[in-house]
Amino acid sequence: MTGSLAEAERWERRIHLAAHPMLYPLVRSLGTLRPVMRIPGLGVLVSEAALVREVLLDGERFVKDGPSASGGLWTPVVGPRALVNMDGGEHRELRRKLADLFTPGAVAAIVEPASAALRATIDTALDAAGRVDLVECVKDLAGGVISRLLGVPDNAPGRLPNKELFNLGSSISSLVRLGRPSLTARQTEKGRAAVEILAGPARSAYRDGAPDTFPGRLRALGMTEEESLGIISAFVMVGTETLVSFVPRLVALLADTGRVETLLANRSGMDAAINEALRFTVPSPMMLRNAVASGTIGDQPVRPGDRILLSTIHAAKSLGGFDPERPMPPQARQLWFGAGPHFCIGMPLAMAEIKGTLDVLLDRYAGKPWVVSAREVSTRVLIPGYRKLELANAC
Ligand code: HEM
Repeated sequence: MTGSLAEAERWERRIHLAAHPMLYPLVRSLGTLRPVMRIPGLGVLVSEAALVREVLLDGERFVKDGPSASGGLWTPVVGPRALVNMDGGEHRELRRKLADLFTPGAVAAIVEPASAALRATIDTALDAAGRVDLVECVKDLAGGVISRLLGVPDNAPGRLPNKELFNLGSSISSLVRLGRPSLTARQTEKGRAAVEILAGPARSAYRDGAPDTFPGRLRALGMTEEESLGIISAFVMVGTETLVSFVPRLVALLADTGRVETLLANRSGMDAAINEALRFTVPSPMMLRNAVASGTIGDQPVRPGDRILLSTIHAAKSLGGFDPERPMPPQARQLWFGAGPHFCIGMPLAMAEIKGTLDVLLDRYAGKPWVVSAREVSTRVLIPGYRKLELANAC
């Protein structure tokens, strides 16, 4: 490994350890020992890409809305029809109705204004102070995307600032902890209060029914008002933290491994670099399911009621260090976005936000790679990431 790859590995390890000081080393070392194993008190840990995929594809034997599979945790906060807490025929039917949600035009209408605002923020900060905190910028971008998902025009009176919208989304998603089987009454109340603030404008946009707003599109696709609010809440909840985790890590990783220059010279390698960075960082490190039938995963017997811990983090990272030129093994392809019935519905939106940000930075730093001038990692969070990633003007 070259020095710069080692630097990237070190920072990624630091990020994971700060978020999960006990669990990360445990999950990685157990994953190295066996592809599947039962851990008393925790569940069945699955650490090999092909087996993780097998479980995700088998929506009959392994469900997401079981008692310890995290989906059901959300129901009191966002209602029963929020995709993440559904399974079987109802879930399939809702996904079918949403199949055309993120057409390229619809994605552009959501992401382009947010990317333009990001460009202005980055340029202003770098021109004025010579440095910019990319984590704050991506929070702002995510808040801008939330405002579009809620159908709030930029100039609407009383529109919440992007950062506040992001904080509201984050206050819902941060209620989840890996060891937390259900929410307390207080946590549920807190989550519901945040959802209610977000629901106000989304409800008005749904009732107005303008097809150029996201809630209006959901209505045109045949969603009821309650379904639309559930879906919007799910998007806000699961689509913000992952992005704020990933984008700064991607930007740091490209700098640490000396890859910015290659992209500045030719952006055709951007997709491969992003894809490999997703594999290497795994923004959503673990997925949970409940077994509802007896059988096996690999050579490990499972029983109904077993909690299944799908270690995407080990499955993806054990394939090797950051190397955008290495072909992706088929069993690992896009595993960081899941697989099967619950595959990330927001992937087109996420990819547009990621590419949009990278384009802004590559334009700004045309000629000379960005420099990471300061960074701090987030501690004790569910989704690992940087708390601060400061970029300075190229010298
Ligand atoms: C880098 C960014 C992202 C990553 C790594 C990611 C990852 C994932 C993963 C792994 C799943 C499957 C979870 C499971 O099977 O248990 C998922 C589902 C989901 N994602 Fe994403 N996601 C990202 C961005 C987004 C965005 C931007 C949105 C929307 C705004 C979004 C919305 C959703 C929704 C609604 C689901 C649930 C789908 C269902 O249950 O049918 N995600 N995501």
